[in-house]
Amino acid sequence: MTTTAFRGGTVIDQGGRRPGDIVIDDSSGAIVAVEEGSPADRTIEVDGCYVVPGFVDIHSHLRQPGNEMAETIESGSRAAALGGYTAVVTMPNTDPCTDSVAVVSEVLDYAADALCEIKPSAAITLGRSGEALSPMAELVAAGVRMFTDDGTGLQDAQLMRRALEYASGLLTDDGTSIVLSQHCEVSALSQGGVMHEGAWSSRLGLGGQPAEAEELMVARDIALSRLTGMRVHLQHLSTAGSVALVRAAKAEGHPVTAEAAPHHFTLTDAECAGYDPVFKVHPPLRPASDVEAVRDGLRDGTIDAVATDHAPHTPDSKELPFDTAPPGMLGLETAFALAHTELDLEMERLVELFSTAPARIAGLADRQGGPIEPGRAANLAIIDPERTWTVDRGALASLASNTPFHGRSVTGMVRHTVFAGELVVVDGKATR
Ligand code: DOR
Repeated sequence: MTTTAFRGGTVIDQGGRRPGDIVIDDSSGAIVAVEEGSPADRTIEVDGCYVVPGFVDIHSHLRQPGNEMAETIESGSRAAALGGYTAVVTMPNTDPCTDSVAVVSEVLDYAADALCEIKPSAAITLGRSGEALSPMAELVAAGVRMFTDDGTGLQDAQLMRRALEYASGLLTDDGTSIVLSQHCEVSALSQGGVMHEGAWSSRLGLGGQPAEAEELMVARDIALSRLTGMRVHLQHLSTAGSVALVRAAKAEGHPVTAEAAPHHFTLTDAECAGYDPVFKVHPPLRPASDVEAVRDGLRDGTIDAVATDHAPHTPDSKELPFDTAPPGMLGLETAFALAHTELDLEMERLVELFSTAPARIAGLADRQGGPIEPGRAANLAIIDPERTWTVDRGALASLASNTPFHGRSVTGMVRHTVFAGELVVVDGKATR
């Protein structure tokens, strides 16, 4: 057995904060010691760094199969590893749609050499058409734990109720639970809208999506969770009203969880003023009062997880006019640094938001999201909290470059990432 030690860092996980040298068995990929001074064959000094459970992104579009010009599982997993992620849940709006065991198997085949764990989610409805349920039992047997029609919301309340009831009867072989995730958007209200409906959309002459298009579906799905007793996860919350609804639902004890994306706690709809499609995203960027409410939700635990909604698009598609360009922006390589720079949260809370809670929501907690202790798989991110760097869209590992954060200075850098015991990022560079 050869072993590697990371020495001099501060370990932070759900057990708190403590000094510790982490020793990994290179062949099994497991943590073998978390004691200061533990012997090892080689040492990597990480003085001044935080050693935390690798991040888990429960919302990424890696575009394979179908749009490999924008991203592949390999390029997306490299972007993820550079962002400190050791697991990514991929979204099902691939081409063909991830709504069958065949496509799930295809994604898992592509993932065999990925630089992080890839866990495909699958569509709730066939083709994400909102009309008939996907073969959920077969998909669960193939390893799927999260279902979503992301890209659109499931409009039919009756079908959503049936999906929740059906999912509640499905058993997993490993005892993990199944979750239905919702892209909350009532399309009758949002259609024709390419940005938030408000003062800026009026000024720019662009069609708007009102906050209520999101909030109505948040309220509906909280009600359906109450009706069925099933867990619902609410994706990319972006409005003050949505945050308030989730806060009230949690206070009443309903089993809902929620995520927010970095762009919704860092950017406002005023960014659309130059008609640059890099700022087009669904749900859209909102006014400052909504951004502040999302930040409050992340602080007080209403929002459980940061999820990137990493949505790569080719340059030619993002060069279309604002109203015809596809929505979406990159997230994996910048998410942690943005949260660390902008949110004014303790590292302990950031670890909950980036690792512990998303691992639990996605059913990955047996191997992701900590705790950092002997016997657990070595899935780790090692963070230099002092390092300031500038986002450069030309330097990203993603095949696409549609980041709205190009040129922004951020503090907090992922120095090393360890996935299943392998050093996949060393000093901010991917090793393969
Ligand atoms: O902006 C978005 N882009 N929102 C979504 O829901 C889908 C995503 C994509 O697939 O590009």
